[in-house]
Amino acid sequence: MKILVVGSGGREHALCWAIAGSPLCRKLFCAPGNAGIAKEAECVAIAADDIGGLVDFARREAIDLVVVGPELPLVLGLVDRLREIGIKAFGPTAAAAEMEGSKGFMKDFCARHAIPTAGYGRFTEIDAARDFIRRHGAPIVVKADGLAAGKGVTVARTLDEALAAAEHALVGGEFGAAGAEIVIEEFLSGEEVSIFALCDGKAALPLASAQDHKAVFDGDQGPNTGGMGAYSPAPVMTAALLEEVMDRIVRPTVAGMAAEGRPYTGVLFAGLMIGAGGPKLIEYNVRFGDPECQVLMMRLKSDIVSALLATVDGVLGTFDLRWYDDAALTVVMAAKGYPGSHAKGSPIGGIEAAEGADRNVTVFHAGTARDAQGRLVSAGGRVLGVTALGRNVAEAQSRAYAAVDRIDWPDGFCRRDIGWRAVARDGGPVSAD
Ligand code: AMP
Ligand code: GLY
Repeated sequence: MKILVVGSGGREHALCWAIAGSPLCRKLFCAPGNAGIAKEAECVAIAADDIGGLVDFARREAIDLVVVGPELPLVLGLVDRLREIGIKAFGPTAAAAEMEGSKGFMKDFCARHAIPTAGYGRFTEIDAARDFIRRHGAPIVVKADGLAAGKGVTVARTLDEALAAAEHALVGGEFGAAGAEIVIEEFLSGEEVSIFALCDGKAALPLASAQDHKAVFDGDQGPNTGGMGAYSPAPVMTAALLEEVMDRIVRPTVAGMAAEGRPYTGVLFAGLMIGAGGPKLIEYNVRFGDPECQVLMMRLKSDIVSALLATVDGVLGTFDLRWYDDAALTVVMAAKGYPGSHAKGSPIGGIEAAEGADRNVTVFHAGTARDAQGRLVSAGGRVLGVTALGRNVAEAQSRAYAAVDRIDWPDGFCRRDIGWRAVARDGGPVSAD
């Protein structure tokens, strides 16, 4: 098959790495890709949100399968456009991608189908929003309705913070059209975990569990980021809890979307809060998580392309996936200053040394490029995803940090405690027998 992956981050590098290893893949392209992806795929300079350009390329190259990484092209209808011309595409249609594209849609959908989630209100008028906030008190959560590059959520500890967030979105236009409507919701407490499920419009097949680390600094301090590291499996997601989440949240969602005429196909990423009242849905994303995808691809034993095709072809009901028992852990190396302003273009060395020293280590590129001299340089906020396998999370963690220490990038930083919750549960590293 000729396969095109759309996107340019660590998630897309992991997807390309897995797809390139499939016996079903004859030729792999990535648009636009990055310097690491260029080792697995032929990178083509088409932006991930250039829907017309991507469709033309897929038609011209007679691509057999397009795998869409990020949410924006999904919300913009890339999958619809590809299907119209008979090209298979992994990901939801624009109508189904509203699950991430509009938080108001997602909340009303949950209300219609009795899916457990935080109580909420939807607002376009600041006065009504203020009343709601004052009536409910803090802590309370204020969210831009539309896509806001991961910046649209304020978990407000005080009334003033909540009022300011509502005002910035509705009056100040902080998020443009994406914040012209806001959702204000009940604060949920507990432990966060994500699950991923392949969905073919009718059936849902859960993937291995994974846990992200959103805060920028150790100890979950500092502002939220796209994700500073991840591990899989997540011990908090027991088999019993997974079954409960599938029964009460994921399967009703797939059935509800089909009943409403927007069947969901692709991967559904459920952000959950596990609290005293059982699991509640925080949010849906319509794509793989980044860096969760990196740990999932490392642990997947089955052929990824067969899984993607079973999803697109609607035969997941009779499909199964195998996983390695090993744990995987990714440490994200980001440019100093991220998630605020940060420099680009600083040279990175030592990646080959890090991978060469331990065959359990793979370094996924999230934001890299080649400069005029052909040197590897940083080209984004999150730059590398240093990933390792181990017999448990603690062993994967120590291997990943040993690899981080071999990478020579003075302008980068990382959290030093990725996986701490699981390591605390495992009771420390496995002995070196
Ligand atoms: P998002 O940017 O949509 O991924 O959300 C960012 C983070 O905000 C989530 O991962 C949660 O940590 C937090 N969050 C969102 N909604 C709630 C809620 N209702 N209660 C508590 N925390 C929340
Ligand atoms: N790592 C969280 C996300 O991809 O949204």
